[in-house]
Amino acid sequence: MKIEPREILKMGNPLLRQISEPVDEFNEQEIRDLIELMRVSMVAANGVGLAAPQIGVLKRVVIFEVPAARISEEDGEISANGGVPQTVLINPKVTPLTEEKVLGWEGCLSVPGLRGLVPRYTRIKYEGLTLDNASLAGGGELQIQKISRDVSGFHARVVQHEVDHLDGVLYPERMTDIRQLIFQTELPSFIRALDEQAERK
Ligand code: NI
Repeated sequence: MKIEPREILKMGNPLLRQISEPVDEFNEQEIRDLIELMRVSMVAANGVGLAAPQIGVLKRVVIFEVPAARISEEDGEISANGGVPQTVLINPKVTPLTEEKVLGWEGCLSVPGLRGLVPRYTRIKYEGLTLDNASLAGGGELQIQKISRDVSGFHARVVQHEVDHLDGVLYPERMTDIRQLIFQTELPSFIRALDEQAERK
């Protein structure tokens, strides 16, 4: 059966402001259906991450992937492993591993067309439960595993962004200078102006 993508809720929808509930019982079919629906909805919207509340489901579940190109962009290094494959994270817990934060560009499917410079911890640990891809694709037994990763750069940024959704937080609230909230189409001119400013100094 083909799953139709769910519409992504936009900033202003009250559901995006709610605290989501932990997943405490593993109803296999329910979890499998939710994750498949999230995956289909994220791909249809061309996103790299999605949290369940963005499709109106107030459960602590996120999915994300980190394209290799984004890793090299943000971290200034060539990614040896070709990015982070699609990861499902259930009941995530994020712990900063440093006090250092760095500004980086973020967008969000719930805030379409805009980009903002957001400060995020450069290194974090994230823990939670995950499902391996094979058990998702199969219809076999659901393999639920504990996951614990120490990550940095864009990977750390994406996880902080997605987990914020579970607490009703959208990235503009994390911003420290609202003048850095811009339309994506203006990104090249914005960056050019920043560069020119830097050169004059
Ligand atoms: Ni988002």
